[in-house]
Amino acid sequence: MSTPPPYENAASRGTVAAVIPAAGRGVRLGPGAPKALRALGGVPILVHAVRAMLRARAVALVVVVAPADGVAEVRALLDGNGLPESKEIKVVAGGDTRQESVRLGLAALPDDTGIVLVHDAARPLVPVETVEAVVAAVRGGAPAVVPAVPLADTVKEVDPAPSPDAPEPVVGTPERARLRAVQTPQGFRRDVLAEAHEKVTDAVTDCAGMAERIGVPVVVVPGHEEAFKVTRPLDLVLAEAVLARRRAADVF
Ligand code: CTP
Ligand code: MG
Repeated sequence: MSTPPPYENAASRGTVAAVIPAAGRGVRLGPGAPKALRALGGVPILVHAVRAMLRARAVALVVVVAPADGVAEVRALLDGNGLPESKEIKVVAGGDTRQESVRLGLAALPDDTGIVLVHDAARPLVPVETVEAVVAAVRGGAPAVVPAVPLADTVKEVDPAPSPDAPEPVVGTPERARLRAVQTPQGFRRDVLAEAHEKVTDAVTDCAGMAERIGVPVVVVPGHEEAFKVTRPLDLVLAEAVLARRRAADVF
């Protein structure tokens, strides 16, 4: 008989904390303030993201990972934007990559943290239902959970172009129905994410990818079209439109 995987059936206890990496520049969004500090509906993108986490009843604490030279500015911004005072918000300095920023955020978690959500500041409009679905799946026993949506576009795998002015050759077409675009918040048992960050040192683009590397099973819950990442200028146009629609419908 084989030994059961170490993460199976382990109950997740302790409080739920959200780590929000917000230390990126936002190069693809174009020149201006760091992306998380840019305005959306007159409020910094980061403030929307923090509110989105605080709306989930289970979330007791938020750790914002700010640009290393912007900790005081981010602290002042959060204090001045009328966030609920019943929940703690910490601000720590970030690093050169998202992975490093998340690691620095994890280091600021109190000992009683049992579940960690990692949420991109750049996803300001994630609905509370998505956050709660992720928490529920971790509470239900999954060590690592990602919200994800089916793809609209067909995806091609390409090789590098053989010369600078030649086109890239297509080498394959994965079956679209089996692909998912992954969003945040991604949810983890705290011990699992801490172990992944200790053991995985090469670059991985999301936290769940790190968990996969150390053999932790990762599961998907339904994501949401409004949990898209503000990456390029057109995303900001879309985000403004979503926010205007919500305000008109008086949802928030
Ligand atoms: N992030 C971070 N620390 C970094 C790089 C990224 O905390 N050194 C955060 C970003 O602030 C963002 C999230 O990781 O909330 C997702 O990254 P991405 O959308 O790529 O943001 P940026 O890196 O800021 O954008 P770009 O890649 O266009 O520069
Ligand atoms: Mg980036």
